[in-house]
Amino acid sequence: MKRIVILISGRGSNMEAIHRACAAEGWPASVVAVISNRPTAGGLGWAAERGIATASIDHRVHADRAAFDAALAAEIDAHQPDLVVLAGFMRILTPAFVARYAGRLLNIHPSLLPSFGGLHTHERALQTGCKVAGATVHFVTAELDHGPIVLQAVVPVLPGDTAESLAARVLVCEHQIYPRAVRWFVEDQLQLCSDGTVRHALNAPQWLFHPS
Ligand code: GRF
Repeated sequence: MKRIVILISGRGSNMEAIHRACAAEGWPASVVAVISNRPTAGGLGWAAERGIATASIDHRVHADRAAFDAALAAEIDAHQPDLVVLAGFMRILTPAFVARYAGRLLNIHPSLLPSFGGLHTHERALQTGCKVAGATVHFVTAELDHGPIVLQAVVPVLPGDTAESLAARVLVCEHQIYPRAVRWFVEDQLQLCSDGTVRHALNAPQWLFHPS
């Protein structure tokens, strides 16, 4: 059984989607811990109610990023994960942290990377006049919201869209592609190669289009 640790900062809807799919589809894996940098993150309660170990490592009580990342890594390592999943985890990670989990650290970002990394993605996509938007699952590298792409979802930008309406449309897709990518990983169908490319063992689509 593969051990998954999920890092969140807020409501944790992607965490929920992954946990639900893991149980419903009988993955050879389980979510062994959910860790937040915010003690008030809504997703912690949801996970605790389901018997998942939870912890919060408050970034505000650590002197700097390195100290926070070291405390976070100690908590993560206590759960001996095969895979660490960033699911709305709103912290920039140090290169040392990223290197520690190289090849077993996934993130989802609500844009079609490499466009619109960082914050306010939907506002920026609308401002730019993008006709499509989407979400990207990628292996994490030291550069924020970069890294080898595993899977992407595309949605249309519709007339009258606001950042909120576009975010909601993208989120529906996030809940489809993130569990799919995590399942591939825990079933050994997905691997980050030493040359920085992604190896997909399955001949499955690596993108999806969600028309509405
Ligand atoms: C998602 O849109 C994710 O892509 C972004 O932050 C949001 C987190 O949502 N990084 P949730 O906490 O998974 O509900």
